[in-house]
Amino acid sequence: MLVNSKVLLEDAMKHNYAVAGINTTSLTMLRAVLEAAEEEGTPVILSHAQLHEPYAPIELMGPLMKAAAEKSTVPCSLHLDHGTTEAYIYKALSLGFTSVMADFARFSFEENVERTKKVADVCHEIHVTVEGDYGEMPSNVTGQGRALPEGESLEFFFTKPDKAARYVEQTGVDSLVVSFGSVHGIYIEEPKMDYERLGAIREAVPNTPLVMHGGSGLNEEDTRTCIDGGIRKINYYTYMACEPSKKLVQFISSSGKPPYFHEICEYSRELMKEKARYAIKLFQNRG
Ligand code: 13P
Repeated sequence: MLVNSKVLLEDAMKHNYAVAGINTTSLTMLRAVLEAAEEEGTPVILSHAQLHEPYAPIELMGPLMKAAAEKSTVPCSLHLDHGTTEAYIYKALSLGFTSVMADFARFSFEENVERTKKVADVCHEIHVTVEGDYGEMPSNVTGQGRALPEGESLEFFFTKPDKAARYVEQTGVDSLVVSFGSVHGIYIEEPKMDYERLGAIREAVPNTPLVMHGGSGLNEEDTRTCIDGGIRKINYYTYMACEPSKKLVQFISSSGKPPYFHEICEYSRELMKEKARYAIKLFQNRG
């Protein structure tokens, strides 16, 4: 059943858990994620990131994701992850996405607010949920995020509670991505989560569901602490997407014949499904 993200986030707020927002860059991944969610009986946010356009054009992937969400036995929303241009965000709306992330954090605070508000006004007219972003994620992974400017500490990137309140009030977003220690991609060093900051942000915007990106690779204890601290959506992709690559060489070399590509996809689907299941269950925070 296709729904917008707002209803999923409201339920998560009521019951102290986080909805998994998982990127699906192929039919194989889409099936892996949906099967895991359906078998666990939990809602899921199917996400398409603008940066994945070269691998999965939204005009092909979007309708596929929408059809899968509509026939799903669990509530699913169709979310644009990291929409970095207005044109791409509006294309997602025209394809029936029920939720978008307005990713304008690279601009000044004032320009971020102005651009996000314009997008939010359009989206709210058609009952589409808007995820806002104020704060950047530092790079402690190869090739992702912005390097820390010289002489600055990690806090340079993190969401400031007072500005978060202003951002939410002035843009009217439905949920807010916050930066307090997680990063996209592979963690190459232990993340240092700033839980005090998360608590202060939650106090500053008590009615806004908070979103954490870079959810894969965090340990279970940190993940649960984040959820108990108010995180209501966790984005997850890298550790699921990288899972098959470790085992494919062995699979191909032991198959005794040149495996067809659809066999490779099937094998990968099972591996990714187990990763997706792990994340979905962990984020449900059932102890
Ligand atoms: P990971 O790279 O930790 O899987 O996070 C994905 C993400 O945040 C997408 O927006």
